[in-house]
Amino acid sequence: MKIPSLQIGRKLVDTPIIQGGMAVSISTAELAAAVANQGGIGVVGGTGLSMEALRRQMREARDATKGILGLNIMVAAREFKDAVLVALKEKVDVVIAGAGFSRDVFSICKEWKTPVITMVSSVKVARLAERLGAAAVIVEGCDAGGHLGTEEKTSDLLPAICEAVSIPVIAAGGFVDGQDIGRMLELGAAGVQLGTRFLLSDECTVHKDFKSLLINAKASDLVRIISPVGLPANALNTPLVKKHLAQDSSIRPKTCNGCLKHCSHAFCIRDALLKASQEGDYERGLFFTGKRYPDISAVEPVKKIFNDLLEGTRDYLNRTLVQEPSR
Ligand SMILES: Cc1cc2nc3c(=O)[nH]c(=O)nc-3n(C[C@H](O)[C@H](O)[C@H](O)COP(=O)(O)O)c2cc1C
Repeated sequence: MKIPSLQIGRKLVDTPIIQGGMAVSISTAELAAAVANQGGIGVVGGTGLSMEALRRQMREARDATKGILGLNIMVAAREFKDAVLVALKEKVDVVIAGAGFSRDVFSICKEWKTPVITMVSSVKVARLAERLGAAAVIVEGCDAGGHLGTEEKTSDLLPAICEAVSIPVIAAGGFVDGQDIGRMLELGAAGVQLGTRFLLSDECTVHKDFKSLLINAKASDLVRIISPVGLPANALNTPLVKKHLAQDSSIRPKTCNGCLKHCSHAFCIRDALLKASQEGDYERGLFFTGKRYPDISAVEPVKKIFNDLLEGTRDYLNRTLVQEPSR
């Protein structure tokens, strides 16, 4: 069975796979371009980058692919709108807004005739996004990496949201193989977004120690925290996280550059994410991850990951079609 392509605004994405944007220099140009070259949507994580660095990343990615490129930016970031404008000027194909909801992004992107996708975790917000002009929504459940908007699983949220809106609905959170993708397509998703699987790829420029930490971690190494942004997130239970959970005030930042619209200042999330992504610093880093990391056994090239995902999806869809009772 042929895997359906994904329509986002006027663009037809050959393969209905989006690489999730990952902040603070985790999903950079190299990963985004590799995914776009395989026919999916490659996404640069814009949060935590200076505007100059973001411009460079967008240009580098564009030079390396003719495929479809997105910007992911957290609404919670103070420079949210500036980052959207930088990416639009660099002719990004799609803007993906996560960690919060922004009405402004729709009017800004409309002027540039660029589609917007928003991350949602309820029927109410999915309907609002559709009304405001979203080209698609990404339904992200509690097994995902990054900040979370719900305690429910994607598969529980998906059917009602697919029913409620007529734009494409993309499933995210806890998917690592073709069987997962097939199951989501069967439930009505028009595509899937994967984060952790692509973090564990050769092309992801995150520090090598972040990758080996994840590859070697056990399921019991994961904890749920409330991040300084005020949202829950899945993270490895590292020394910094233990201190945070114990409400240790010694980790409170001494200085602050005000990178977030709202911050609890329990610790500096930007520094901690950078320590993880750039230095692989086990003691002081914050290692966000999706819950399914124990099911990923190797860091592999994006091309191999894509081939395996597509083969697994085809197998799953062929199997379930064959098993359908004849009428
Ligand atoms: C390390 C890390 C950083 C992330 N950063 C962001 C982000 O900046 N913005 C966002 O919308 N989602 C972010 N996410 C979520 C991903 O884009 C994606 O939706 C999620 O990882 C899907 O779940 P999975 O990891 O189980 O595949 C992040 C995920 C990870 C693992």
